[in-house]
Amino acid sequence: FFFFTCCLSLVEFNRGGTKVYGQNMNNKINGSSIAALSVLMCMGSISAYIIYSLVNEKKREKNESNILELIQRRRSVFPKQYTSEPVSQAIIDAMLEGARWAPTHHLQEPWYFVVFSSAKSRKELGEFLANDYKNTSTKLGKFSQKKFDKKLKNAEAASHIIAICVHRTDGSKCPEVEDICAVSMAVQNMKLIATEHGVGSYWSSASVHENKKDRAVKNPISLKKFLDLPFHSICIGWLFVGNCDAKCFKKSQRKNISDKVSFR
Ligand SMILES: Cc1cc2nc3c(=O)[nH]c(=O)nc-3n(C[C@H](O)[C@H](O)[C@H](O)COP(=O)(O)O)c2cc1C
Repeated sequence: FFFFTCCLSLVEFNRGGTKVYGQNMNNKINGSSIAALSVLMCMGSISAYIIYSLVNEKKREKNESNILELIQRRRSVFPKQYTSEPVSQAIIDAMLEGARWAPTHHLQEPWYFVVFSSAKSRKELGEFLANDYKNTSTKLGKFSQKKFDKKLKNAEAASHIIAICVHRTDGSKCPEVEDICAVSMAVQNMKLIATEHGVGSYWSSASVHENKKDRAVKNPISLKKFLDLPFHSICIGWLFVGNCDAKCFKKSQRKNISDKVSFR
């Protein structure tokens, strides 16, 4: 449209703007008025374009500040803070869709999630986590009945529990740590989408490590069996999800970033 009006204006000015148009029609239009109209339309297009760009720029700035605000609002919200109202399937689907778009080296998309949504499956998971805790803590002489009961209660209180897994094969193209990073970014996406919907979540690493002092992730065999994970895949945690009061997203603290950055 902009190009067209420019051309029309130029043509009209070149013609001197004196020719009379539409001689065979009822309405006779003077060439110079068409030229003037074209210039006006041209200026209108330019102004519209400038206004559109300014509005878009403002929108982009607003989006940027919204994203930072969302990142800062995200909190770990624990099962005792969840309400009994289940999280809708639409929100769980949105979280999983967010996970799908995490960065991933070689497009390996190494995430794999097992969603415990039914009361029965969460009870089974709660029993697995509680019994695993019992076995390991008893060996260390540190068993606490209170902690055991809490594991059962937490699984019951959550609306959904998502096993966070890293799918790997013999032929995986990336070092394990890169796949773990990609899955962690997917989890952050899920947590941000949950936060945006006012849904609480927290990452638990209970029963994930055979030995907490290991440098690499090595799942206990019982966990791999429970989740039916292939040999090379690993579980790196559990995302507990539940509806909660808006007050659960309370302000937190972080150290100043300047202590953690050096510019060169
Ligand atoms: C990889 C990972 C594992 C975590 N494991 C646990 C856990 O086992 N138990 C727990 O209470 N919180 C766990 N958290 C949550 C942290 O405790 C929480 O993020 C931290 O206290 C900061 O609070 P915020 O998330 O509200 O900002 C884990 C977080 C990450 C990233």
